[in-house]
Amino acid sequence: MSNIAEEINKRRTFAIISHPDAGKTTLTEKFLLYGGAINLAGSVKGKATARHAVSDWMEIEKERGISVTSSVLQFNYGGYCINILDTPGHQDFSEDTYRTLMAADSAVMVIDGAKGVEPQTRKLFKVCGMRGIPIFTFINKMDRDANDTFELLDEIEKELGIATCPVNWPIGCGKSFKGVYDRHEQTVITYSDTEKGTKEGETTVIPISDEAAVEAAVGTERKQVLFDEIELLDGASAEYDLDEIRRGKLTPVFFGSALTNFGVEIFLQYFLKMTTTPLARMSQNELIDPVKNDFSAFVFKIQANMNKAHRDRIAFMRICSGKYEADMDVKHVQSGEVMRLSRPQQIMADERKILDEAYGGDIIGVFDPGLFSIGDTICTPKADIRYEGIPTFAPEHFARVRQIDTMKRKQFVKGITQIAQEGAIQIFQEYNTGMEEIIVGVVGVLQFEVLKYRLENEYNVDIKLEPLPYEHIRWIVSSDTELDKIVGTSDMKKIKDLKDRPLLLFINEWSVGMTLDRNKGLELSEFGTA
Ligand code: G4P
Repeated sequence: MSNIAEEINKRRTFAIISHPDAGKTTLTEKFLLYGGAINLAGSVKGKATARHAVSDWMEIEKERGISVTSSVLQFNYGGYCINILDTPGHQDFSEDTYRTLMAADSAVMVIDGAKGVEPQTRKLFKVCGMRGIPIFTFINKMDRDANDTFELLDEIEKELGIATCPVNWPIGCGKSFKGVYDRHEQTVITYSDTEKGTKEGETTVIPISDEAAVEAAVGTERKQVLFDEIELLDGASAEYDLDEIRRGKLTPVFFGSALTNFGVEIFLQYFLKMTTTPLARMSQNELIDPVKNDFSAFVFKIQANMNKAHRDRIAFMRICSGKYEADMDVKHVQSGEVMRLSRPQQIMADERKILDEAYGGDIIGVFDPGLFSIGDTICTPKADIRYEGIPTFAPEHFARVRQIDTMKRKQFVKGITQIAQEGAIQIFQEYNTGMEEIIVGVVGVLQFEVLKYRLENEYNVDIKLEPLPYEHIRWIVSSDTELDKIVGTSDMKKIKDLKDRPLLLFINEWSVGMTLDRNKGLELSEFGTA
């Protein structure tokens, strides 16, 4: 038991959230470098080369050189076992990106110092906020001209509604970037550019009390600005409070440059101390302790056709408690079936390895015989655990699907329903009709292509997609709302999901607010229950 506790307590499982190009990949590479997982930074980046070469996943992935799937990177550092969940961004941004956040215990938010809070960060942040997980902010690209530091913090507080607590403070930026001031240690750490991948920079650490040395290192003017800012900051910023951080109410903020490898290790060290061990999770109103309970896990993602020759499906599970051992019997709670988890794998960025054991906090990929659905629980046969389902997230792009050959109606319905079950797309119907009018909703537009491709290749059905102008979907939460009586805006459309639950579509956000104003007691949500 003690070994299990030790293993679980050294796990730190987190996701990195950012807007494309803020530096998520670069930061991940540098983390891996410290963990000794790769010798040279740059190995992660080769999305178009490395991943492309080894993965025989979907053709689209190959053609585009992008990853349609998310995976996990595991490495050891400073006595910790770190799991970084890859949250797909760019064009492959999808509901999976959101779902991955359900498997993380905390999130690192990377912000480009010259751009501030950007749309994709805002969306991902909302999902983290819903779960109340700790969020750590890394303001990147300080080697380039950046926005005013106080304004950046203000923007995070106002736009995202979270208090900020700078753990370090930048001294200049761009060409005059001199380093950071560590508020906790009260030291100045001077900037050095170690882009080439060495771990040891030529950084010097100077106590702030040694004013002459600080001045010599950063210059008279910079020193004065720094001292003024420190004074201002001590009076104005939120106090460091670990409980608030763990509750997701306060975000510690760090500054650095992932590219030149400055401030990354400092960040990693603080982050590992502040973030949590694998979190307990709710099962039927009871918290399941990661250490005290035997093996349990939930499925957060299903990836179909990872190997086209075998048409296989892989279910990705987050282990919530206990230890997984090779060939152990487990119960799939939703079906009641007891089964042997055969050959679980750890899916790394571009390779798979078979696991003999894994612990609470880890992610494993298991061949799915078509049994698992997203949100399902797996536990030891005698345990009575059923984790709360994963919500469905609001798609932002909609299209009407037309089938070209109407004779293939059956395959079409089967295919589109199966793909929807895997969670790549959501399907809806016109409010007053049946399956003859299908509306597809996706989080990222690439999923439209994935849908078309898969229907053609796996189900032999050609479709035509007609884009619809809607961008906002809302689930109706209030129980006493009568759909027919809702007074909406002219752009509002009533639809229903496959379980006949009513939903509303809008072209713009303004209409959502207007509809709420016009209908007393109406409550809408951006998250649907699974
Ligand atoms: P992402 O995963 O969040 O999309 O961002 P990624 O790390 O791919 O970084 C996006 C671009 O920003 C890359 O440049 C990268 O080199 C650059 N970058 C990342 N961190 C820093 C930083 O701290 N300082 C500066 N100056 N640049 C940074 P690129 O030109 O698009 O790609 P590449 O040709 O350099 O690979």
